[in-house]
Amino acid sequence: MRYVVPKAKAFHKEITVPGDKSISHRAVMFSALAKGITEITGLSLGLDVKSTINCLRQMSVSINFENGIAKVYGRGHLGLKKPQVVLDAGNSGTTIRLLSGILAGQKFSSTISGDESLRRRPMKRIIEPLRKMGAEIQSTQDEYAPLTIQGAVLNAWDHRLNVASAQVKSCLLLAGMYARGTTSITEPVKSRDHTERMLSALGAGIGINDNTVTIEGFPLLQALSMHVPGDISSAAFFMVAATLIPNSDLIIKNVGINPTRSGLIDILRSMGASIEYDQIRVINYEPFCDVKIKSAELTGASITRDMIPRLIDELPILAVAATQARSETIIRDAKELRYKESDRIQAIVRNLRKMGGTVEELPDGMIIPGNQQLQGAALDSYGDHRIAMAFAVLGTILPGETVIENAECVEISYPGFFIQLEDLCRGW
Ligand code: S3P
Repeated sequence: MRYVVPKAKAFHKEITVPGDKSISHRAVMFSALAKGITEITGLSLGLDVKSTINCLRQMSVSINFENGIAKVYGRGHLGLKKPQVVLDAGNSGTTIRLLSGILAGQKFSSTISGDESLRRRPMKRIIEPLRKMGAEIQSTQDEYAPLTIQGAVLNAWDHRLNVASAQVKSCLLLAGMYARGTTSITEPVKSRDHTERMLSALGAGIGINDNTVTIEGFPLLQALSMHVPGDISSAAFFMVAATLIPNSDLIIKNVGINPTRSGLIDILRSMGASIEYDQIRVINYEPFCDVKIKSAELTGASITRDMIPRLIDELPILAVAATQARSETIIRDAKELRYKESDRIQAIVRNLRKMGGTVEELPDGMIIPGNQQLQGAALDSYGDHRIAMAFAVLGTILPGETVIENAECVEISYPGFFIQLEDLCRGW
């Protein structure tokens, strides 16, 4: 699909965004492993979460939808059945990496794969530590999906990760549920902690000490009704739109503000953005609130090491915002961006240059001068939902037409994004 980006008028609106993708994956997976029936409100209906649901259904988990509420019939953590087909994780890194941790502990063997982009993404980071715990895994070139996993009773292990990754950490925590003893995972910088919060709420023995998380083997997970807050990574696009489109204000209702995810808000505030929290609430250890944004002028920022995992998925939209700031923005220590749904550093740099922008590409980030006079252009999404949405937001404020090729990928995390963008751009 080819998307022609509308031009923005000032707006004063209130919106909601889809349920958090990371929390949605975990909500369906963990309730499938719990005893009892779980009702989940606010679940993301993006393609990635549908991939997780389909994989679980292939292992005999019943998942229904009634009036927008998902009902998961938990089978207990030893109750999954051997799938009769190759499990298809689609485009979703979270699906393949987290499910691999679960599959490593089953009494059956199974194969999990995904689309072309997913089959290019690095898997050694889960293959090697899962092997240390006793799983047998075959893969392409010892790195890429399809992964064929022979499950086993696993050994507990003390893992030290070289790269902060919530997907790897969560994979190993899930494998730790099938291991005798206590498994620990230490990260160089703490990544998002939804797995720890949700497994604790379900009754697992989770310990947290700085950047180390532990889990006791063979927990009894008890079903619990769940609410998924709005996705801060989706809200991010409209936070930046409201900041950049002059004379606008926006309220985004019920947005998750877990501190391991809210780095974009901290950075935008430090750049001069007007973003406030209203009515903070907490359900199942996950905080959320209404976020109020007013347009503002930005200055540049320097974003490095400890901040990166807290805004890793928001770097495309932050890079876009940085072009409109009064001074330079530097992003470093973000090499992981090259291993996402696309090589996001390359995708951002290429698209900004097509718009007449200046940006210096670094191996692990980029340097973006401020005050850039950009022009609309024909861009590629590179099949990456966050690239498509970030550049659609930028196109709304530039002279000249912006067209995004391969824009259908927004369905991965945000069905309805373009309709909402058009509604905002109509103004008032
Ligand atoms: C996710 C973790 C992040 C993020 C991804 C979703 C998750 O990846 O980029 O979109 O749900 O655990 P990392 O594994 O690099 O932290």
